[in-house]
Amino acid sequence: MKKLLLTVACTMLSIAAIAQTQLPAPQKKAKTLSVMEALSTRHSERAFSDRALTPQELSNLLWAATGVNRPDGHITAPTAMNKQEIRLYVFTVDGVYEYLPQTHELREWAKGDHRAIVAGRQEFAKSAPVSLVMVGDYNKFGNSNDHARQMVAVDAGIMCQNINLYCAAAGLATVPRATMDVSAIVKLLGLNSNQQPILNNPVGFPAK
Ligand SMILES: Cc1cc2nc3c(=O)[nH]c(=O)nc-3n(C[C@H](O)[C@H](O)[C@H](O)COP(=O)(O)O)c2cc1C
Repeated sequence: MKKLLLTVACTMLSIAAIAQTQLPAPQKKAKTLSVMEALSTRHSERAFSDRALTPQELSNLLWAATGVNRPDGHITAPTAMNKQEIRLYVFTVDGVYEYLPQTHELREWAKGDHRAIVAGRQEFAKSAPVSLVMVGDYNKFGNSNDHARQMVAVDAGIMCQNINLYCAAAGLATVPRATMDVSAIVKLLGLNSNQQPILNNPVGFPAK
């Protein structure tokens, strides 16, 4: 019996290990445009080439969005009372993952291409190699009253702007979007009534 339990535990551990992927370290000194140049060039882009992001490019993008930037675990995007309540999900052609800022890892949530539910009624968004979905987790505030809703909306907007500015600085194309098939995303990610998809950013290289 003991041996059986040990085998089950080991199997579960290895499944967990397979489902979590370490990203390359973010290149914090990567050559990008300056903040002023990024602000000068930032714009919404709705056409993407079919070039995929490399793991390094994805790592840099996710770290810029909400990665840990201090030894105490604080992140690049400020959040109300440092609740860090915006979860960031990554939709690619291969699967759907949650970005785990504290370990800079991807946790797999679903296999396969689910970018269509992020695109919703805007077909163009399906052609971006990556779609980032920001999900507000009201559980971190203990309730979903008007104040919590306001803070979550603001914090998602801040993370979204981190993505917009990083993309502008790194030569990537993106557009902030509220359009998406919310109920399909809720179902796929197994979200509860205190977790709400707020915004998304399709990201890729410009078509032209
Ligand atoms: C909160 C928010 C939601 C948006 N939702 C969408 C959307 O669903 N679809 C879309 O194509 N653009 C969307 N946009 C992009 C805006 O249309 C765009 O930012 C605006 O037209 C200004 O253009 P610019 O970003 O190039 O300055 C959204 C922008 C924001 C800030």
